[in-house]
Amino acid sequence: MKDLLKKPVINYVILFLVVTLLTGLLLFPIVNNVILLSSILLINFIIILVFLQFHFTNYLKPLKKAIKTLSEINKGNYRARFHYTSNNLLSELSYKINSLARNLSEYSIQEKMQREQLSTIIDNTDNGLVLIDDKGYIHLVNRKFLSMYGRTSKDYNGYLYYDVLEEEVFHDTVQQAFLYEKNVKNEFSHYIGIDKLYYEIVGVPVFNEKNRLKGAVLVIHDITEMKKLELMRRDFVANVSHELRTPITSIRGFAETLLEDDLNNKEAEKEFIKIIYNESDRMQLLIEDLLTLSRLEQENFQLVLNKIEVNDLLKDIIPSFQIKAKEKELDFTHSIENNLHFKADKEKVKQIIINLLDNAMNYTPDKGKVFLSVTSTEEYVHIKVSDTGMGIEKNDLPRIFERFYRVDKARSRNTGGTGLGLAIVKHIVDVHDGKIEMDSEVNKGTNVHVYLPKK
Ligand SMILES: Nc1ncnc2c1ncn2[C@@H]1O[C@H](COP(=O)(O)OP(=O)(O)OP(=O)(O)O)[C@@H](O)[C@H]1O
Ligand SMILES: [Mg+2]
Repeated sequence: MKDLLKKPVINYVILFLVVTLLTGLLLFPIVNNVILLSSILLINFIIILVFLQFHFTNYLKPLKKAIKTLSEINKGNYRARFHYTSNNLLSELSYKINSLARNLSEYSIQEKMQREQLSTIIDNTDNGLVLIDDKGYIHLVNRKFLSMYGRTSKDYNGYLYYDVLEEEVFHDTVQQAFLYEKNVKNEFSHYIGIDKLYYEIVGVPVFNEKNRLKGAVLVIHDITEMKKLELMRRDFVANVSHELRTPITSIRGFAETLLEDDLNNKEAEKEFIKIIYNESDRMQLLIEDLLTLSRLEQENFQLVLNKIEVNDLLKDIIPSFQIKAKEKELDFTHSIENNLHFKADKEKVKQIIINLLDNAMNYTPDKGKVFLSVTSTEEYVHIKVSDTGMGIEKNDLPRIFERFYRVDKARSRNTGGTGLGLAIVKHIVDVHDGKIEMDSEVNKGTNVHVYLPKK
């Protein structure tokens, strides 16, 4: 009976009570027997109440339960179920609600999986990503982007892009993408610590299915390697041209003098021709070095591996350096492990030792010391060239293997150097899968260690 006091049944109970009382009042003048009238009306009222109770339990109560289940599902509780089989209509309703819950649950699992996959891709891509809506609010920034600026997503999500994105180029890119409604590309550089990194930023407008602009995605990729290569290429061309211009100018100048002036002085003529010869020799050396580098860099470069007897190899090299050492009054000594042999490209290994000894002697003042040792470990042949020369500043050491890099340009040019020697050494070591290390102290000396695999 408690159910009859619940909404909406209570309204009907009150209505029937009022109708019963009115019927009683209307019938009262006709029926004299009050007790009989009251009893009939009471029985009537009770019958109606019983009917209402039946109606409530059969229809309204399950409907209320159905509504409660649907609101649970609406809240995301897809495990909520509704079971009523008392009549066809309710059993169909319960079947529909339960299958709706099951479908929604499957959809939500699938959607969650897709969201997770998407966010894994977004977070693990090597490009920075920023998603901005059509009002300029940021909705998403990925991990790569955060790592560039060392902040968290809370610093960006929900903010206007021009309030939180520091670089001016970001603002320009978003505005251009919105204005022109097509992909826009820009470049910028950014420091991470002391490293200067170069980035390309692409603003991609995003449209909805009605082709209305809904926002933009900023894609930021690191182009530092490409930029460095471009700079290196530019430097390389500039350096080669510069290196060639000096001897060519000199050759041209002396050749002109020889042609124009009627030199009767045989001595001067010979001197000029000697200069022309030396300069062309220098050019030839430069071109040979460039060709060596280019051959080493070719993809299909093949090493000619021979069995090398270290003692034999050094017999060809050491005498000429002994002469050079004598001229400079250098104390040149060497220590070679007995019976040392390994497999490598003989001519290239010779070139390594020649270039290193050449440097050691060129950059060590008269009366200094130069020492060559060749020993072996289990895996490697260790070539070490030490000198007591001018040494190299710490700042210059990381760049020493770059082409044309010279610490003291004027001095190195005096030695006839082109700045390609160590670049060639490094390439030869690389193609042999070896390693090269250099330590140096200014005015104390330099040690170069080359390790070549014995194979
Ligand atoms: N043992 C050394 N001591 C001091 N400085 C050195 C030494 N070896 C190399 N360097 C420095 O490194 C620079 C690069 O050396 P690298 O051998 O590549 O070129 P280079 O000697 O100038 O010319 P080349 O192409 O004829 O060898 C030199 O110009 C010199 O400044
Ligand atoms: Mg050199």
